[in-house]
Amino acid sequence: MRSCLLLPLVICVVANSRLPTNYEYYGKDEILSGLSAAQRHFLLNGENITLFSGTFHYFRVHRTQWRDRLRKMRAAGLNAIETYVPWNLHEYQSGVYDFGDGGSDFEEFLDVEEFLRTVQEEDLFAIVRPGPYICAEWEFGGLPSWLLREKGMKVRTSDGAFLKYVSRYFSKVIPILEKHQFTNGGPIIAFQVENEYGATLNYDKAYLRAIKEMFIDHGIKELMFTADSPLLGLLGGLPGDLLVTGNFNAYPEFNLQVLRLYQMNKPLMVAEYWSGWYDHVTEDHRTTDTETYSNVLERIISFPASVNIYMFVGGTNFGFTHGSNFVSTGSNNSGLQPETTSYDYDSPISENGDLTEKFNATKALIEKYSPIKTLLPDIPESPKRVKYEDIKIEEQLLLSTVIDEFPNKIASEDIVPMELLDINNSSGQSYGYIVYRKSNIDLKAGAVLKIKGYVRDHALVLVNGVLLNRMLSSRRDIDGFGYWRLHNSSLTLTEKDLTNATVDLVIENNSRNNFGQLDQFEQYKGLTEEVLIDEEVIKNWQIVPLEFKRSWNEQLSGWKPISNRRAPALYRATFNATLPLSDTYINVQEWRKGIIIINGFVLGRYVTVGPQLALYLPGGLLRDGENELIVFEHFSAPLSVKFSDQPLWGLGNYIH
Ligand SMILES: *[C@@H]1O[C@H](CO)[C@@H](O)[C@H](O)[C@H]1NC(C)=O
Ligand SMILES: *[C@@H]1O[C@H](CO)[C@@H](O)[C@H](O)[C@H]1NC(C)=O
Ligand SMILES: *[C@@H]1O[C@H](CO)[C@@H](O)[C@H](O)[C@H]1NC(C)=O
Ligand SMILES: *[C@@H]1O[C@H](CO)[C@@H](O)[C@H](O)[C@H]1NC(C)=O
Ligand SMILES: *[C@@H]1O[C@H](CO)[C@@H](O)[C@H](O)[C@H]1NC(C)=O
Ligand SMILES: *[C@@H]1O[C@H](CO)[C@@H](O)[C@H](O)[C@H]1NC(C)=O
Ligand SMILES: *[C@@H]1O[C@H](CO)[C@@H](O)[C@H](O)[C@H]1NC(C)=O
Ligand SMILES: *[C@@H]1O[C@H](CO)[C@@H](O)[C@H](O)[C@H]1NC(C)=O
Ligand SMILES: *[C@@H]1O[C@H](CO)[C@@H](O)[C@H](O)[C@H]1NC(C)=O
Repeated sequence: MRSCLLLPLVICVVANSRLPTNYEYYGKDEILSGLSAAQRHFLLNGENITLFSGTFHYFRVHRTQWRDRLRKMRAAGLNAIETYVPWNLHEYQSGVYDFGDGGSDFEEFLDVEEFLRTVQEEDLFAIVRPGPYICAEWEFGGLPSWLLREKGMKVRTSDGAFLKYVSRYFSKVIPILEKHQFTNGGPIIAFQVENEYGATLNYDKAYLRAIKEMFIDHGIKELMFTADSPLLGLLGGLPGDLLVTGNFNAYPEFNLQVLRLYQMNKPLMVAEYWSGWYDHVTEDHRTTDTETYSNVLERIISFPASVNIYMFVGGTNFGFTHGSNFVSTGSNNSGLQPETTSYDYDSPISENGDLTEKFNATKALIEKYSPIKTLLPDIPESPKRVKYEDIKIEEQLLLSTVIDEFPNKIASEDIVPMELLDINNSSGQSYGYIVYRKSNIDLKAGAVLKIKGYVRDHALVLVNGVLLNRMLSSRRDIDGFGYWRLHNSSLTLTEKDLTNATVDLVIENNSRNNFGQLDQFEQYKGLTEEVLIDEEVIKNWQIVPLEFKRSWNEQLSGWKPISNRRAPALYRATFNATLPLSDTYINVQEWRKGIIIINGFVLGRYVTVGPQLALYLPGGLLRDGENELIVFEHFSAPLSVKFSDQPLWGLGNYIH
């Protein structure tokens, strides 16, 4: 009894000596209610709350850095973070899941429960957007590529075939999130239903309702909302039922008035205020100045409205995970605009964890406008990055040798796109490159190869192991043979007669569209139509899926001294790292196009037609002692691997 009587005193003393934490302020003694939008301002457990939230995707930052980034976000004064949940990483093969221990190459990025616990430990609430579609400039908007095996299925609609897969996935992922709801003692205060559905211009309320019902069936009790460009808010939402929120980066008064019109007596919330922008390959690096950023943010906060800043931490599209846009409609591949490996986004916390001017500006605005003062941590110091010494490259493995020695090539009468290969437990190929090999063929002098339709998305052509493509040396080359913009492309295969030749078509899947109307979501990769030589359709191919899976990368052997730097090849170099394992960048200015693999993990793609010229390598992917770096270069390799301690933007050394 006595200690019970003392308890309030102790709390009283603690509360007097310092500000309360977020959870002390809103958790009080007992949690009776979650986030409420039943009036013109938000309430959390009965207390007024303005959401100052920032987006942080756990799958774009190595887990060893989650706490650092989260603490910095809290130190900026944010009270919440927002994250998507990527279906294509969590269900990496149909019916096979990874939530941190599922054995996929992304395992160490996928422990969403550990992430949510860290969010809570760092005194932040969470807003979660489980999709199923997430956009996010992420491959296929987060949808798994194996869905495309169901011919005729309409993704992102109430098509029963699609909902069956969503339902199976949700029955795994929603129960995990359910445990971490605010009213169950966790950090999650709100859930978003689908994502920018208005932009599909598809009126399918049954689909939105089905997603909402699946959330509820798995025990979701917290606030649910939709998010769209405000003018599309009614098309993409279920107004009257779910809170409609807005995504934009300009005209805040106009956009907030639009939201107000939909729901006079509900709080205003900007689900995505874009802090910067992302980059497309072949374009220049995009930034927005801090003044414009702060000006719009201040007008949102003072309107007043709640806000989520997208992105607060940009991060990286590791592996083959970046998405793309389409500038034209339909599955016309010429309008493909692949995004870069870096997702820095010019956000308040940069890809490498450094704080930018936008960080300071955000912190100052929250301090100025937040009526509720809570305890904030000190800003953690950012660890130093290292520029390792150049490493001379001594070993290579020619791509033609890799193809020659690939076991169990798949025999196929016709050209088959990646998704439809009957491999991987009926999930098709899930990453990387696909090789179509035609051996034992006689070619006449001047023989012409013709690829019907589009190359999806980049083709290297080898005859007897010799690369025929033009060397990538200018942005304009992307308009020519071997890239995604040309329809019905052709190439001369030989100047003289050849007997018993081997022709390899190596096709790189350069990622799928992640945004917009539904007809842009029907996208196969590899080759989809016929291939002809001298107008004759070629049949009976051998197909090699080159997925660059971790286990495969780790067992690569047969490295040879360098014999030819101007052929598609893998290059190997090793370097030593010591504790603490510092972050660095791989400088790709002297390379052309390819991928980088660190200790078996695909770090990402590079292509020096810009704008990204250095790939961020977080220390968490290194090991104490020897580290193995493999570069798969399509065209031409320099003598050494170089590092950088800073991001680099622009054009590569051999690109004009
Ligand atoms: C909560 O916010 C509303 C709207 O801004 C305001 O009218 C009310 O006074 C606030 N309540 C408290 C306890 O601060
Ligand atoms: C194959 O896929 C099924 C579901 O489609 C799954 O239940 C099974 O575990 C998978 N097998 C392997 C070996 O991954
Ligand atoms: C593909 O789209 C581009 C841009 O909209 C257009 O110019 C081109 O004619 C289209 N090609 C085909 C084959 O439809
Ligand atoms: C942010 O503010 C801190 C403290 O005032 C200052 O030291 C730092 O240089 C500022 N950072 C930037 C990028 O302006
Ligand atoms: C998919 O199948 C290919 C060919 O059999 C194999 O090399 C690859 O390791 C498989 N991928 C996965 C993720 O299991
Ligand atoms: C490509 O060839 C097909 C017929 O094989 C034709 O219909 C189409 O218009 C051609 N595309 C272009 C861009 O010429
Ligand atoms: C054709 O070339 C392959 C190697 O690509 C070789 O194994 C085979 O013996 C050759 N056949 C003839 C008839 O020369
Ligand atoms: C294509 O590449 C993307 C990543 O860029 C990957 O997520 C997708 O599964 C790949 N699809 C195929 C069929 O290889
Ligand atoms: C890396 O360290 C090992 C010993 O741990 C040593 O044998 C090797 O020579 C070192 N490599 C380089 C490139 O310094």
